[in-house]
Amino acid sequence: MKWLVTGAAGMVGTDLRNELESRGEDVVALAKSDLDITNRDDVVRFVENTRPDVIVNCAAYTKVDLAEKEELLANAINGSAVEFLANAADRVDAHLVQLSTDFVFDGSSRRPYDINDPTAPLSAYGRSKLIGEHAAAKHTIVRTSWLFGIHGPNFVEAIRNQIRKGTNPLSVVNDQRGRPTYTPHLARAIVRIANLGASGIVHYADEAECSWFDFACAIRDELGAQVEIVPVTSEQFVRPAKRPAYSVLSTERYERLTGVRPESWRDGLREYLQLRA
Ligand SMILES: NC(=O)c1ccc[n+]([C@@H]2O[C@H](COP(=O)([O-])OP(=O)(O)OC[C@H]3O[C@@H](n4cnc5c(N)ncnc54)[C@H](OP(=O)(O)O)[C@@H]3O)[C@@H](O)[C@H]2O)c1
Repeated sequence: MKWLVTGAAGMVGTDLRNELESRGEDVVALAKSDLDITNRDDVVRFVENTRPDVIVNCAAYTKVDLAEKEELLANAINGSAVEFLANAADRVDAHLVQLSTDFVFDGSSRRPYDINDPTAPLSAYGRSKLIGEHAAAKHTIVRTSWLFGIHGPNFVEAIRNQIRKGTNPLSVVNDQRGRPTYTPHLARAIVRIANLGASGIVHYADEAECSWFDFACAIRDELGAQVEIVPVTSEQFVRPAKRPAYSVLSTERYERLTGVRPESWRDGLREYLQLRA
């Protein structure tokens, strides 16, 4: 199978490229400097020249707070450009795997979100990702959440930086729950899903659900740091973009399709801390 990965220099894109190359797959990995997915002509040209079987779009506008001020740009990258990719994929009979987010939900649920639950994003970023989902509706949408990986800025690094700076105590929100996900685990899941040729929405997130406070405590404990972590509410920690209070994704369809359970973010955290000094 021939793979084309866009946004290949990003956090997920880099791990996906590494995963595919380690399996000896035929992969064309394009960073933003190689292909700007908002350029429709370039998208068509690259896809027609490459003629991939699968396109995994890891390119995205991911600045959640800034998107409140840059919604048009977020929509162009996360929305319109996905339509260009989906159309180009159709022209060469390729399958598009589009990555999406738990932020398409409003967080009012009290049980894990199923793939068919109604979406109602609270932020400009979430709305832009939903436009992308609609554009890729005939293909595959992999929703995931709370990513951390060694090739990008993330929550683990933010907490470690605070600890290194000597911040004590550390305040972390305890009223948002989700499923942290280690990007090499996501990369493996994407390959499994794509190999099955499944279409529609699939949720992939690591086990198990927790709050940001729980996640921060785990990071501190794995680092062996003696820092007090104080649980706070989202109201005490106001940010430009609203986040869902509860965005736990149900991975039932993934488990049914692949026959495997999601991996553990705690294991991912240990590997992360070994790999990224
Ligand atoms: N991070 C999370 O917690 C999270 C959670 C759920 C879902 N997701 C989704 O997972 C996917 C991957 O996210 P990530 O964390 O790997 O993000 P990332 O590290 O920000 O990677 C995205 C990549 O896309 C590139 N890019 C931006 N605009 C582009 C354009 N017009 N054309 C081509 N490339 C472009 C970026 O380049 P520049 O950096 O140079 O702009 C960057 O290399 C995204 O779809 C995101 O929405 C992320």
